Amino acid sequence: MTNTQKTTESIQDDQAAEAFPAPNDTIRTLLGRRSIRAFADEPLDQGIIAALEASAQHAATSRYFNEWSAIRITDPSIAQAIADEAHQNYITQAPLLYIFLADQRRNADLIAAEETKHSESDDGFILNTSYAFLQAQNDAVLALHAMETAAYSMNLGCVILGSIMNDPDALIDLLHLPKLVYPVLGLAIGKPAQDPAPKPRMPRPAQIFENTYQRANEEEINKALQDFDRTVFRYYRDIRHMDAPRKTYSQIMADKAFGTADGHRPMADSISRQGFDWTK
Ligand SMILES: Cc1cc2nc3c(=O)[nH]c(=O)nc-3n(C[C@H](O)[C@H](O)[C@H](O)COP(=O)(O)O)c2cc1C
Repeated sequence: MTNTQKTTESIQDDQAAEAFPAPNDTIRTLLGRRSIRAFADEPLDQGIIAALEASAQHAATSRYFNEWSAIRITDPSIAQAIADEAHQNYITQAPLLYIFLADQRRNADLIAAEETKHSESDDGFILNTSYAFLQAQNDAVLALHAMETAAYSMNLGCVILGSIMNDPDALIDLLHLPKLVYPVLGLAIGKPAQDPAPKPRMPRPAQIFENTYQRANEEEINKALQDFDRTVFRYYRDIRHMDAPRKTYSQIMADKAFGTADGHRPMADSISRQGFDWTK
């Protein structure tokens, strides 16, 4: 029995008081998902790549604007530059790497090609608004998630890469991103060369509320969160020894919620330079 199966069962046991439909393959894939950061040195065949890309393309898209793109990185020197900036060398080991983008450029170009009296510089142009930026970002994330789930369903593994945004301007230059395009996340995919146990998740009543944001049942929720703290501590101590912080979840948060350790700069200027207008 693999780690994945074990932990999936224990998640279900923890929540056994609630009705839980017998998992089908899709639910098993979702419950067994965990980030993979070590990959076999094996290329993926074109059919698998096509299935992954088509799955991403079938994700929902806000207003049917199809406002995302992805760049498949096949040039090792570009992958290395991304890994250097992200400080995560396993990015170069993955046989497949994508950078997902919020993209209003394609739609803007299509409008320009139409016989219309309007242009991108008109006040009424809305593909550069804060809403358009956020919806394009949502589109990109949903497409990435569809690709990630498709990958796990084919026994591949993935890691999502927020670290590509350590220096967005450098990435924009590296990938030659035009105006109205902004990087969102990376996704590295490959055959897993590790089998980490899925990380425990929050007690559900602490994360999923009913009707309004709830502080009701505070005592019960606090107790569940304290149990969760102990579960996370044990997970790192007993199961995940290799990268173990040996801390409770609250202690990990207390460490991560302050300071400049992650080095992220404010992004508003860089987003504006790409042509999005926060005031609109
Ligand atoms: C938006 C986002 C950005 C992430 N960025 C990174 C990253 O840059 N590097 C990395 O190793 N993992 C990254 N991850 C993976 C998270 O660390 C991981 O999902 C989390 O620790 C939970 O572990 P699990 O995926 O194994 O359940 C990212 C995940 C998300 C959703």
